[in-house]
Amino acid sequence: MQDNLLTFKDSSPAQMQALLNLALMIKRSPSDYRDALKGKSLVALFEKPSLRTRVSFDIGIQKLGGHMVYLDSQSNQLAGREDTKDMALNLSCWCDGIIARVYQHSTLETLAQHASVPVINALCDLYHPCQALADYLAMTEIFHDVKGRTLAYVGDGNNVTHSLLIVGALLGVHQVVVTPVGHAADATIIEQARIIAQQTGATITTLTDIKALGSVDVIYTDTWLSMGDKTPLETIKETFMPFQVNEALMQQCSTEYVMHCQPAHRDLEITSSLIDSPASLLMLQAENRMHAQNAILVSLLGNLIN
Ligand code: CP
Ligand code: NVA
Repeated sequence: MQDNLLTFKDSSPAQMQALLNLALMIKRSPSDYRDALKGKSLVALFEKPSLRTRVSFDIGIQKLGGHMVYLDSQSNQLAGREDTKDMALNLSCWCDGIIARVYQHSTLETLAQHASVPVINALCDLYHPCQALADYLAMTEIFHDVKGRTLAYVGDGNNVTHSLLIVGALLGVHQVVVTPVGHAADATIIEQARIIAQQTGATITTLTDIKALGSVDVIYTDTWLSMGDKTPLETIKETFMPFQVNEALMQQCSTEYVMHCQPAHRDLEITSSLIDSPASLLMLQAENRMHAQNAILVSLLGNLIN
């Protein structure tokens, strides 16, 4: 694994599988890892709000014997008071790792360039790698092996879509991305995922016609408006409503499971009844954020004991 976790796109399939296996081991035997971060301190910088990421990192780091300092920059640019470069240089004097949720991916690149400690992407405009690892951990627990399974992502092509594409391609998951015209995932990232997929036999298909979506193992959706997107909901609701993940779509695709990274907007991108149904993997995904992130932390800066 590289020294920072910004995207996973430079990981190999073997590295990705090893990290997933580590997450499973940490989830199954947490006491084996209780000193993995003993004496280590991490700083978490958040330019945007968070429930799951903030709490799961904080509690997860405690479970590994480490300590997290939350730096409250919510709704502010990190570099409002000083340059991002100077923040990276200063924080590196005291902490062993930096977790950052930022608006621009370039902010993470600047942090990583100047910090002498690992930088972990806790969501940016282009990627949400910690989420994708947790999601494939959930799928692994359901299907035992995700290779050869098919995940359909339905909705807005965004940071979550991009990380699912990259991590899924590394793990050999077939993916169908269904987005309304004008809301597709980033073409460069789709191409990168397709290149990765050549190593694992995964296929990546893009559609704009939701009626063309056939049988899949899992349907995944996310908010139609990501944090920082000021588009009024009313102007896009008409476009996105046909892409709502609901019981009819589950039936159309003979799908047993539904996923969402949350926060979810009930009866917009997903029906409330589906969230609360036995098909829902949402709380497993949320729970797995901590185990997936702990695997990342142990890999990047753990006092490895195994
Ligand atoms: N899924 C996720 O990242 O949730 P938060 O925005 O609450 O951290
Ligand atoms: N795409 C969403 C994910 C939230 C976890 C956003 O960026 O707001």
